[in-house]
Amino acid sequence: MTDKELLEIADKAMENAYAPYSKFKVGAALLCSDGTVFTGCNIENASFGATNCAERTAIFKAVSEGYRDFEAIAIVSSGGGETYPCGICRQVMGEFAPKLRIILRNENGEPTEYNFMDIMPKFFSL
Ligand code: THU
Repeated sequence: MTDKELLEIADKAMENAYAPYSKFKVGAALLCSDGTVFTGCNIENASFGATNCAERTAIFKAVSEGYRDFEAIAIVSSGGGETYPCGICRQVMGEFAPKLRIILRNENGEPTEYNFMDIMPKFFSL
């Protein structure tokens, strides 16, 4: 699975985004260590705080299916350019995957990569 392929799976997942309030669609594709991919999209709610981000949708789907070993997550959005994961999603990533590679797409359409620990050092843990 190349980073480009993972981004394309995230593109497809973004088609299911439910974002009638922000109109900002997000898709995510989470690559597990055994090669399984879980997808996610943002799911908004009239009670805005009940909204779930694409990244957490993918991670929660995976964990609920018994997967906890993750290698990479690709994130795309309708906004174009790199879409960084929000703070809550970073905290959730830290719980399960502090070694996660975060794959984004820049304005030129090229994959870019960040290590989780570089963008979320010293995340909260018990
Ligand atoms: N959103 C995500 O899906 N992931 C993020 O990391 C940041 C924000 C969604 C939430 C909301 O539906 C929309 O983007 C605008 O904030």
